[in-house]
Amino acid sequence: MARRKKIYEGKAKILYEGPEPGTLVQYFKDDATANNAEKQAVIEGKGVLNNRLSEFFMTGLGNVGIPTHFIRRLNMREQLVRQVEIIPLEVIVRNFAAGSMAKRLGLEEGTALPRPIIEFSYKDDKLGDPLVPEEYVIAFGWATQQDLDDIVALALRVNDFMSGVMFGVGIKLVDFKIEIGRIWDNDYQRLVVADEISPDSCRLWDMETGQKLDKDVFRRDLGSLTDAYTEVARRLGVMPSNATHMPKPTLIN
Ligand SMILES: Nc1ncnc2c1ncn2[C@@H]1O[C@H](COP(=O)(O)OP(=O)(O)O)[C@@H](O)[C@H]1O
Ligand SMILES: [Mg+2]
Repeated sequence: MARRKKIYEGKAKILYEGPEPGTLVQYFKDDATANNAEKQAVIEGKGVLNNRLSEFFMTGLGNVGIPTHFIRRLNMREQLVRQVEIIPLEVIVRNFAAGSMAKRLGLEEGTALPRPIIEFSYKDDKLGDPLVPEEYVIAFGWATQQDLDDIVALALRVNDFMSGVMFGVGIKLVDFKIEIGRIWDNDYQRLVVADEISPDSCRLWDMETGQKLDKDVFRRDLGSLTDAYTEVARRLGVMPSNATHMPKPTLIN
């Protein structure tokens, strides 16, 4: 059997050529990194949880009419996605101050923001994904003004959906990051939510206790990351406990 072709290996995922043109298989690894890979570990089961959770969120977004790259989950660690041209930005949406924003502005973490604030980082590991103003995005041609308007609208819809879903299970969506991709239909471009949405890319705080249920548990050594992600999955009813009822893994290639 021919080995399938690896297209890219990143910090958290591997991309393989998909079974049809224009598709990719996204494999979720157990690797965790923080502070631009300064801190690294293998967290058993993280990939399985993130595959499930990203499937759950992407499917939900699709159900309310927000386009994503997700096609279907293939097995415990892999999902089939549309291949997109990634816009080299991390699109960050913040509802409450935390992390780098809290530091930059001297705000206490958890301070409510006057409205959701969107910011952009340029995706470049060597540079540590620096925060960039819209002016840079347009001047350097990473996206057009029209793209940016569409990206902001998309990001706000994702925020409304994700905040609501999380609120429903007693979790505050403090902030999150998404990546956006272009899909071309001949000359016509569509923007879709790509990459992943998981506790690796969100800040999630328990509404009652303030307990952190996201990658900050790893970044800040606050306990078991698997326990935190499992709790998010449990509350959302997304658990590999029904793994026994899963369809057989799909053979690709
Ligand atoms: N649908 C897609 N098509 C093409 N590339 C994608 C798609 N979804 C995500 N990617 C890219 O695949 C990579 C995912 O691997 P990851 O481990 O997160 O990488 P990184 O270390 O660069 O963050 C990212 O670079 C992301 O931009
Ligand atoms: Mg990534």
